[in-house]
Amino acid sequence: MANSFLVTTAIPEPGLQLLSDAGRVTVLPEPPGYDALAALCASGDYDVVLTQLRDVIDAPLLAAARLKGVSNFAVGYNNIDVGAATRRGILVGNTPGVLTDATADIAMLLILGTARRVVEADRLVRDGKFLGWEPELLLGRDVSGAVLGLAGFGRIARATARRALGFGMEVLFAPRPPGDRPVSEAELGEFAGKVRQVPWDELVARSDFLSLHVPLNYQTRHLVDAAVLARMKPDAILINTARGPIVHEDALVDALRNGTIAGAGLDVFEDEPKLAPGLAELPNTVLLPHVGSATVPVRSEMARLSAVNAVAIAEGRTPPHPVNHLAKA
Ligand code: GLV
Repeated sequence: MANSFLVTTAIPEPGLQLLSDAGRVTVLPEPPGYDALAALCASGDYDVVLTQLRDVIDAPLLAAARLKGVSNFAVGYNNIDVGAATRRGILVGNTPGVLTDATADIAMLLILGTARRVVEADRLVRDGKFLGWEPELLLGRDVSGAVLGLAGFGRIARATARRALGFGMEVLFAPRPPGDRPVSEAELGEFAGKVRQVPWDELVARSDFLSLHVPLNYQTRHLVDAAVLARMKPDAILINTARGPIVHEDALVDALRNGTIAGAGLDVFEDEPKLAPGLAELPNTVLLPHVGSATVPVRSEMARLSAVNAVAIAEGRTPPHPVNHLAKA
């Protein structure tokens, strides 16, 4: 029987072409709700489902699923219960590597955009309130010389460090907050002597910009809560290009309102696409609609990787970018 793929939301080329070359492809006309997706996965009509972050692939869905695999169109896979998939003999694939630079660009953009008040400035011009150069119009912060604290030190954090060093920032990092793990000079590689590891508490207290680059899991959910926000500097700015639930968003709104911290640059939200009440009204924020990987070449590469993962799984091979491994039968 031909391979059969279920694609929950159309993906760019060459993704769909690669899938069509390898089998039958069903692209849903609109994103499925949980029950509809669960029923499709349980139908036995598909070998592999190609999912988006909004598709919740949890243990109950997987328990009833008749699938060989799940190919996520994302590097993060917090929408999938990978443990449950492994127990059910279902392979999971993701799209690492190809979106590292694009996402680090967005982290840097948020650092610069919050520091230099880009949203307020843009609005002022559009509102016809730009009346000419003024010595004290929209004064912001210098990023050069400022301390960038990186929560996490994986691919995207390192790419952000590379950019920040180019802007003359002092870069500190805590590799696996809230825990700790010594990173050797050898592991630091090109960053040896240029960035410094500090404990999470120190990172929180010393950062002018605290940028989050950790996966979302039970240890990092609400990593930045009211207590952490209270320990940040009053003029500090929080940057999040990772996952919304890493930050307690209601606590962040309070902290921004009360001057506990000075600003936030967010590409992700706790309950996407909803925002915490009050967040959108705060002037000291730059808010983006989860566009870290949103460039034409990157989305095309993500489509390619997710398709080759799906085809490999359907054909009984290990996907090139596996998230889990199954015990040999
Ligand atoms: C996007 O957020 C991704 O994980 O690829």
